[in-house]
Amino acid sequence: MTEVREIPAGQTELAATALLALRPRWETAAAIVDLIDTRLRPAGYRLVGIFDDASDTAVAVIGFRVAYSTAWGRHLYVDDLSTLPQSRGRGHGDTLMHWIRNEAVNLECEAVQLDSGVALDRAPAHRLYMRHHLAITAHHFTLGL
Ligand SMILES: CC(C)(COP(=O)(O)OP(=O)(O)OC[C@H]1O[C@@H](n2cnc3c(N)ncnc32)[C@H](O)[C@@H]1OP(=O)(O)O)[C@@H](O)C(=O)NCCC(=O)NCCS
Repeated sequence: MTEVREIPAGQTELAATALLALRPRWETAAAIVDLIDTRLRPAGYRLVGIFDDASDTAVAVIGFRVAYSTAWGRHLYVDDLSTLPQSRGRGHGDTLMHWIRNEAVNLECEAVQLDSGVALDRAPAHRLYMRHHLAITAHHFTLGL
């Protein structure tokens, strides 16, 4: 049986394996848990995970926050979405996208916003977003320093 539930502060490590699959730059569970608990959660970041019988840790996670901007007003911004490689293709991505849309509506956001890379390994994510009717509305520019 699968369960979708929020991962509260103090349990962030339950999301670490799935998050590291998406964000390997943090290298260790301890490093990404520390980032989330000391920097991101205080700024409103939340985590929701999918759990199944085969694992104590989340097989898929979504990390997000409610934010305001001049461009988008009040919106729900998705920072992270990741399913463990061995758990992909079972509908977990779809489940989390449905969950996040409902949450954005419940929190009276105007829209769900996210950025996604253009490398080929993001193609499954792009298909997922298009299935859920997200539109491509911007180019994202970065100046490395
Ligand atoms: C993008 C990502 C989160 C999708 O997660 P997922 O759990 O595999 O998503 P789903 O299972 O809902 O959908 C994946 C595919 O499985 C298919 N699928 C879903 N349930 C299925 C089922 N029961 N049987 C067969 N196929 C199924 C979907 O139709 C979809 O097919 P497609 O890729 O051909 O379009 C995952 O690929 C991932 O973590 N990628 C790496 C990280 C990443 O890119 N994150 C997004 C950053 S912007």
